[in-house]
Amino acid sequence: MAKKKSIDPLMDKLVSLCKRRGFVFQSSEIYGGLGSCWDYGPLGVELKNNVKRSWWEAMTHRRDDIEGLDAAILMHPKVWEASGHIDGFTDPLVDCKQCKHRFRADEIDLVKCPDCGGELTDPRTFNLMFKTFMGPVEEDASVVYMRPETAQGIYVNFHNVLQPSRQKVPFGIAQIGKAFRNEITPGNFIFRTREFEQMEMQYFVKPADDQKWFDYWKEQRWNWYLELGIRPEKLRWHEHGKDELAHYAKAAYDIEYEFSFGWKEIEGIHNRADFDLARHTEHSGKDLRYFDQAANEKYLPYIIETSAGADRGTLVVLADAFEEEQLEKDTRTVLRLSPKIAPIKAAVFPLVKKEGMPEVALKIYHDLKKHFKVFYDDGGAVGRRYRRMDEAGTPYCITVDGQTLEDDTVTVRERDSMEQTRHKIAELVELIGGKVG
Ligand code: GAP
Repeated sequence: MAKKKSIDPLMDKLVSLCKRRGFVFQSSEIYGGLGSCWDYGPLGVELKNNVKRSWWEAMTHRRDDIEGLDAAILMHPKVWEASGHIDGFTDPLVDCKQCKHRFRADEIDLVKCPDCGGELTDPRTFNLMFKTFMGPVEEDASVVYMRPETAQGIYVNFHNVLQPSRQKVPFGIAQIGKAFRNEITPGNFIFRTREFEQMEMQYFVKPADDQKWFDYWKEQRWNWYLELGIRPEKLRWHEHGKDELAHYAKAAYDIEYEFSFGWKEIEGIHNRADFDLARHTEHSGKDLRYFDQAANEKYLPYIIETSAGADRGTLVVLADAFEEEQLEKDTRTVLRLSPKIAPIKAAVFPLVKKEGMPEVALKIYHDLKKHFKVFYDDGGAVGRRYRRMDEAGTPYCITVDGQTLEDDTVTVRERDSMEQTRHKIAELVELIGGKVG
């Protein structure tokens, strides 16, 4: 049978590189895979952790006004009534009566099935939350939901965090964690999946100051992508029109990235006003107002939310870094990842597996390992080893050669320029550590 022509060859190449180099694999692959679920391999877990660490540092460690949190995935079912997810977290869908394929009603023209031309059902609403049961009895009373966003864990803990931290409005709570959505049309690799990770921060402000903080957080979040090394021309803002705004939002802007499959949202910055704290006050019966000592008044703070996806962030850095560079004789595939998030910071090679070179290279490897993530490789021609590291996004390759044995110097090859310079072994920690930290 003729192979189906790919509609996104660039993404196909990236997916294939991710599998080949151990970034991302399909979940349960040996059983044929599970729809839109992906596993992060040895390099993928490092890369995603580095993206999350960069976010955590920018949003908590470098600041005095934001506290961290790690709330449970399963929450009281009333949380989802209060948040509006039970009634409102739905997509309209239609089914094809002939081929049984399912579509989001707002994504097709509703005349006939885009796959087989068959007749479509009327649109129905479909709740995107995954349901499960708590305890041994599978009955309505024991239904719980897999959280579709991490944000609610922050709202319900507003006072729990406020009191011990002794923060004062304005302040924020940040959290990274898994979220689950039974998406009707997942796809584009790790862009839209049913299990994913969010990096969310909720910033509690005086209602009158909401616009100031909304503008502030828009700027901060944009700059974070630049810090990750993303090309600014590939980023743009999308303001939500009145018809697009989520039920909770007073205003919303998305940061979009230009993927090979189009401009797509990677993060949302939302002014949620007092919607969340008001709803949780109403549904829980607990007063979630903030007491402003200086003004001697109680009020419900407004919330400015920054909501990013860790998987989408990882896809952005991969897509932005991927390049097939035309060289004189061949093409080199290279991931030009920022050294700060590259999974492996440096690789150490003996030029050949003899004359004492492996011993010196291994000593360098063990010494550098104490400072950052390094990789040792003595297999095959050195040129091929360089190329493997280019595909892994490793910014530096250190090679021990004949001269090393005479003067304790090595070559350091820089990934992007492929330039090689000689350095003393004793200088390597400072030379590389300063750039990858
Ligand atoms: N708390 C607000 C909220 O969840 P959202 O726009 O639904 O807002 C925020 O999601 C971010 O979460 C998105 O910009 C995206 O990065 C990520 N995200 C949402 N759904 C996703 C999915 N199915 N797969 C991967 N990432 C997703």
